Amino acid sequence: MSNRMWGGRFSAGPSAIMEEINASIDFDRKLYAQDIAGSKAHAEMLAARGIISAEDAGKIAEGLDAIKAEIDNGRFTFSRALEDIHMNVESRLKELIGAAAGRLHTARSRNDQVATDFRLWVRDSLDHVDGQLADLMKALVKRAGEHADTVMPGFTHLQSAQPVTFGHHLMAYVEMLARDRGRVQDARRRLNECPLGAAALAGTSFPIDRHMTAASLGFDRPTANSLDSVSDRDFALEAMAAASIIAVHLSRLAEEIVIWSSAQFGFVRLSDAFSTGSSIMPQKRNPDAAELVRAKSGRIIGDMNALLIIMKGLPLAYQKDMQEDKEQAFDCFENLSLVLAAMTGMVDDLVPNVARMAAAAGSGFSTATDLADWLVRVLGLPFRDAHHVTGRLVAIAAERGIELSDIPLADMKTVHDGITEAVYDVLTVENSVRSRTSHGGTAPDNVRAEVKRWTALLG
Ligand code: ARG
Repeated sequence: MSNRMWGGRFSAGPSAIMEEINASIDFDRKLYAQDIAGSKAHAEMLAARGIISAEDAGKIAEGLDAIKAEIDNGRFTFSRALEDIHMNVESRLKELIGAAAGRLHTARSRNDQVATDFRLWVRDSLDHVDGQLADLMKALVKRAGEHADTVMPGFTHLQSAQPVTFGHHLMAYVEMLARDRGRVQDARRRLNECPLGAAALAGTSFPIDRHMTAASLGFDRPTANSLDSVSDRDFALEAMAAASIIAVHLSRLAEEIVIWSSAQFGFVRLSDAFSTGSSIMPQKRNPDAAELVRAKSGRIIGDMNALLIIMKGLPLAYQKDMQEDKEQAFDCFENLSLVLAAMTGMVDDLVPNVARMAAAAGSGFSTATDLADWLVRVLGLPFRDAHHVTGRLVAIAAERGIELSDIPLADMKTVHDGITEAVYDVLTVENSVRSRTSHGGTAPDNVRAEVKRWTALLG
């Protein structure tokens, strides 16, 4: 068999195993729309610069549109013998329009072609993720507005620390996701330079107009160095790093949902729509979606790691190793999109058990810090002394198996005789959260103000 692609130099085709390891069409077919857009822009530029005739450029554009329709409609036959999406499209173009198809690859290589296609794909993915992040933020802000007054325990070391509001807790994730959007948008800005026209590695002697192709594909400018253009994938790595941080944020919220929905906590309930049962234990309601969000963060980070490791020893310029960039990025962004949608669904769905959260918020001496602060504010004790006095009161309560507010005043006075009846006011959970009015604190009024600010920002 002669070689379908490089028959000039080659007299024989590849071995079956060579074809199997080499072909990327099974996955890079995902780039068809980007590949066709890139080729159309290139052909139009070649004609504008007089490198090919306007007539040939017209035929090429028509043929490419027809191929796009064939692939859109599932009528295109992909061939592994043609290695990748670029050769599959070009070969079909030749069938459709004849000799003019052979002029499309003037002043271009698959190296700048794939770099362009892949940048376009990653750019689309970043834009999609940005929109999904905005949706998740809106869902969180909405729930936070509903629960600005709902108290719950705040934890450090997963031990009761101080009461907070559920709204405040949800708004913490809004801040994280806002930074995530910043990273996504920043990665997009740096990505948005066009490698097309770098050709194989050194540029070309044809009088091409790289500014024209860059503009027509929505890039801000052409890349400045032809070697860099075809040999680096930092745009994908940066996007995947941003994706990994997003996945970590989602994983932490997922872990909290798993904990909160356990019978022992009972803070939230997911509806049947977001729960699964057990094939043996009839009582079970499992938060599988949250668990999978948590798991997929590992996978997304793994994708980024894999590409970092693929890239780390490559000399300039293009190496075939770089063909392995795509499956990692596809997997990363497809799973990220899935977990963002699942998390938004769960945030919309979950029903907090307000009474249970309030009961938990008041247990575990959670207002001990409020007591110490009262001793400082009202009795003028240095904070360290107030900490010691409060510690003794906590020890008394713990020994008797009661809460701080259950210690009779007379007993409090044995520890510090300046304590008055007024101290009991600061020991309630409601007053505790209401007092946390410092900038960024958990006070319900603060939460309402933040909800208002974010609602306006998110539109
Ligand atoms: N399928 C290849 C890839 O994804 C396209 C570039 C091929 N270039 C080459 N010099 N063999 O990287």
